[in-house]
Amino acid sequence: MRKTIIAGNWKMNKNPIEAVEFVESIKNQIDTDRYDVVLCVPAINLIPVLDCVKNTNIKIGAQNVFFEDEGAYTGEISAKMLKESGVEYVIIGHSERRQLFCETDDMVNKKVIKAIEYGITPIICVGESLQQRENNVTIEFIRMQIKNALANVNENDTSKIVIAYEPIWAIGTGKTATTNQAQEVCHEIRNVLAQIYNQNIADNIQIQYGGSVNSKNASELFNMPDINGGLVGGASLKNDFVSIVNYK
Ligand code: PGA
Repeated sequence: MRKTIIAGNWKMNKNPIEAVEFVESIKNQIDTDRYDVVLCVPAINLIPVLDCVKNTNIKIGAQNVFFEDEGAYTGEISAKMLKESGVEYVIIGHSERRQLFCETDDMVNKKVIKAIEYGITPIICVGESLQQRENNVTIEFIRMQIKNALANVNENDTSKIVIAYEPIWAIGTGKTATTNQAQEVCHEIRNVLAQIYNQNIADNIQIQYGGSVNSKNASELFNMPDINGGLVGGASLKNDFVSIVNYK
């Protein structure tokens, strides 16, 4: 049965010293028996933070990856490099990367395939804009994003993926989707996964909600039937993350 997975997305915050100080201060308060817990930190913090969590079950994730193994790609980091450094997860297709760095569905798909090839679990982000929600095209749009992200991902590899539903209008705005809005879309994501693969596979894929998750709304959101945890931005930079991870 699928386990809850709570991931922190630090985005472009904390230098290596601050990162280690913070992780040292929270790591023993985090209960990793009940849930999978992942910290997705800036690339420069991966190595020191990996070192810091080595005697715990906290997993470390990157926030981006490139889809080639090596070569003349200035500024990029490969799945091979991440894997060989001990990184186990990577966020792919976050709306900030899609909007600010022009990532397309095709690039997202290539990155997903490459991460899987190296045994790194992609946390694949999908989510609609406010305009799309107001125009009632949310479900249609999300279905398309899922299908494109998973093109040529075969069913044997589906146990190695996580989907994060993050409505763009709820990210960093303090405006959380209502539990029903979040559940509705996560349920549709499961339906489209069942259509692409089958119901059994769909039932086993972890689907997160992300967008202004905090210690007050986490429990209600994560207890919805199709929501298996969260991708947490702002609140993952603070002690609040401990309460989110230890939600009841
Ligand atoms: P937020 O960000 O929790 O600060 O809204 C979530 C995310 O972008 O992953």
